Amino acid sequence: MAAIRSRTLRAPRLKRTALAIEAQLLDTRLAFDSVAADYDGPRGNNVLIRRMRRALWKAVCDELPPGSRLLDLGCGTGIDAVAFARRGYRVTATDWSARMVERTRARAAHAAMSSGIDAQHVGIHQLDQLAGEFDGIYSNLGPMNCVPDLRAAAAECARLLRPGGKLVCSVIGRICPWEIGHYALRGRFGRARVRAARGATPVGMNRHTIWARYYLPREFYRSFAEHFSLCGYRALGLFMPPPYLVDYYRRHRRWCHRLGRLDERLGAALVLRGMGDHFLIVMSARSRA
Ligand SMILES: C[S@@+](CC[C@H](N)C(=O)[O-])C[C@H]1O[C@@H](n2cnc3c(N)ncnc32)[C@H](O)[C@@H]1O
Repeated sequence: MAAIRSRTLRAPRLKRTALAIEAQLLDTRLAFDSVAADYDGPRGNNVLIRRMRRALWKAVCDELPPGSRLLDLGCGTGIDAVAFARRGYRVTATDWSARMVERTRARAAHAAMSSGIDAQHVGIHQLDQLAGEFDGIYSNLGPMNCVPDLRAAAAECARLLRPGGKLVCSVIGRICPWEIGHYALRGRFGRARVRAARGATPVGMNRHTIWARYYLPREFYRSFAEHFSLCGYRALGLFMPPPYLVDYYRRHRRWCHRLGRLDERLGAALVLRGMGDHFLIVMSARSRA
């Protein structure tokens, strides 16, 4: 009797949770749809974003030779997809925002790379809709932070990768000393603590809301551990300021170049590698049982 009662109480709660997650996914899609047209403006030219972007390019190129089949999760406007297609990779580029997918198709056409890029409107939470086998999967600059069920995404990534295939992600981290210092010094302690929140956190963008989850690298890897072995991870943007402080970078260019060198030298060091604006993590798909 008690079991029946608890089951009947649990069912509506599960339904409410599923509806809330669906609503959050829609909010996030609307937010990115709303910025897609201008997404590469100042952001695309942001030198601090370009540095982090190139770190993922290097990791993918170090792991996989040209000609490999790649899946891009959360491709945005297709900057990475075109860069990899130019280097001879075959790319399936996916995004949850239809407007971003349109931008990727347009970029591929403009670069005469349409034959090397297949852009599809598929969210990371919908990977069961994709078929085929990939040599590598990558996700650059935070799409994985918008996924409600990381374990389910991990299982789908494992299904889509050949055994030994690589998964390379740059993920927004939980401990960003620059951010904590920047906001705490201005007395904005709530903002300084945003990344400490557990679960989905609302982040404003263009008068819309993105629902993001923040991770430590080890926390992130836990959802993948069943299907992937960990090759390594490193901090991105630990000593360098985060991209939204690019004006600070411009005012203190020489000093920041030194900080950039510290990032390169120490970003993979013990303890430090768990911090930074983002972290870059590389995993290898285990053989299927
Ligand atoms: C910060 S942008 C990064 C875009 C691109 N990877 C880049 O490096 O420029 C985040 C992207 O993730 C996409 N995104 C958000 N939630 C997603 C989801 N659940 N599945 C797939 N893409 C998602 C957004 O539409 C957006 O294009």
